[in-house]
Amino acid sequence: GATLGGCAADVAGTSATLVPSRLPLPKPFSVPLPKASVLRPDRAGRILITQRVADLQILPGVRTPVWGYDGTFPGPTIETRSGSPVTITHTNALPVPTVTHLHGGHTPADSDGWPTDLLLPQRMSDGNGGTHAGHTGMTGMADPEARLRTSTREYRYPMDQPAATLWYHDHRMDFTGPAVWRGLAGMHLVRDDHEDSLSLPRDERELPLLIADRSFDADGSFRYPSVDPTLQRPGVADEWMSGVLGDVMLVNGAPWPVAEVDAARYRLRILNAGNARRLSLTLDADGTRLPFVQIGSDGGLLAAPRERGEITLAPGERIDAVVDFAALPPGRQVTMRNGIGGGGTALVMRFAVARRGRDDSRVPARLAERPPARDIPAGAPRRNFLFARGSDGRTAMWTINGEPFRPQRAVATIQRDRTEIWRLTSNVHHPVHVHLDPFLVLGREDDGLKDTVDMLPGETLEIAVRFSDYVGRYVLHCHNLEHEDMAMMARFDVR
Ligand code: C2O
Ligand code: CU
Repeated sequence: GATLGGCAADVAGTSATLVPSRLPLPKPFSVPLPKASVLRPDRAGRILITQRVADLQILPGVRTPVWGYDGTFPGPTIETRSGSPVTITHTNALPVPTVTHLHGGHTPADSDGWPTDLLLPQRMSDGNGGTHAGHTGMTGMADPEARLRTSTREYRYPMDQPAATLWYHDHRMDFTGPAVWRGLAGMHLVRDDHEDSLSLPRDERELPLLIADRSFDADGSFRYPSVDPTLQRPGVADEWMSGVLGDVMLVNGAPWPVAEVDAARYRLRILNAGNARRLSLTLDADGTRLPFVQIGSDGGLLAAPRERGEITLAPGERIDAVVDFAALPPGRQVTMRNGIGGGGTALVMRFAVARRGRDDSRVPARLAERPPARDIPAGAPRRNFLFARGSDGRTAMWTINGEPFRPQRAVATIQRDRTEIWRLTSNVHHPVHVHLDPFLVLGREDDGLKDTVDMLPGETLEIAVRFSDYVGRYVLHCHNLEHEDMAMMARFDVR
């Protein structure tokens, strides 16, 4: 029978599974970089999105069915203003239940995308009890909250947070990996007046780059192990529980695209939206490395810019960076490479300098309006979280402090507005993500505010968390989506 492509050892710091595509792939840098459509709230602060199946042409001449926000992959880029609340009404016209989470959003608990707070498919919420569920992997139809669920709902986002690069994606318990792989991910940019005043590159010279690896089946569909029976052998779920890796690099939904640029500064808002693939990005201008000037991370602008030859991004992390093409004559090309993984995934995209251009942008020496205070109150409560492999007695899974995710059980109850120190320990690579409010990684001054931290195998680090915005139930979890689906998630309550 068919076999997996073998283990891409240490790509994710563990033996994650590389799924090979089963059709011919295009030559890199032959497809233009797409720009997702932009959705802004109307005057009443509303945005409508329908989650639906659509056929897209991702590889030239090939039809790929996706699950998309408004039928696109990536979903539309949502743009909001700090301090202006927005209500996003999602309608689920997909064949499966979904949950939408705004990653990086300071969001009240009832709109945060609790993993079992399902938005039912239209066909299942029409009052006939889910008999059309089909093989959707749907569980829990007998639970008492089910009648409260519908196929349309409003997610309310106060946007009471500074300018930052956020993203939104599916978050359904146990099924986030396959849903995001099939297309349920998009970017969300929060803007504010302070950032507008900085003269950073903007408009055509601001490029959101959603990077995601995928693999394609012979019929053009995305190939994912759990929905492909030929990739499963009895009792070996294990082969992909370490993470699913694709062999095609998509940027804004296009394989190894090329972007024409002016010889000027550009702002790149880079998101690693891959399920399990870590990225190490460099810019290669005919053998010379062009630096990234990092201006922001997950939680918004850094205190000061930071020049970096290489950027490492784990799944879920974002980097906001300015790149200056001004020294390059028209005709020169700059290749974005990825140093982790090899094969087709060693290339990401290309910038082709097309023309000279006037440039009024600049990168000021001071960026954030209010850089986070770094003083930790004496006697701050401490907690330990161990991210490691475990078992529920029968099946191998991923656990936090030895426990798989149980929605009913909070592992911590935290007092609102009180700083805590969390000591995280990781057995293999785990990108650890905490909902609600961003945190500081202690000992990494210039990282800014983070909501996802790339933990190395065997690493222990301390983060300072402080939940000020809302009370309620939230989650922390590993953002390797296969680890998350295989239970590496925990509930915490803010009181
Ligand atoms: Cu980007 Cu809880 O997820
Ligand atoms: Cu993990």
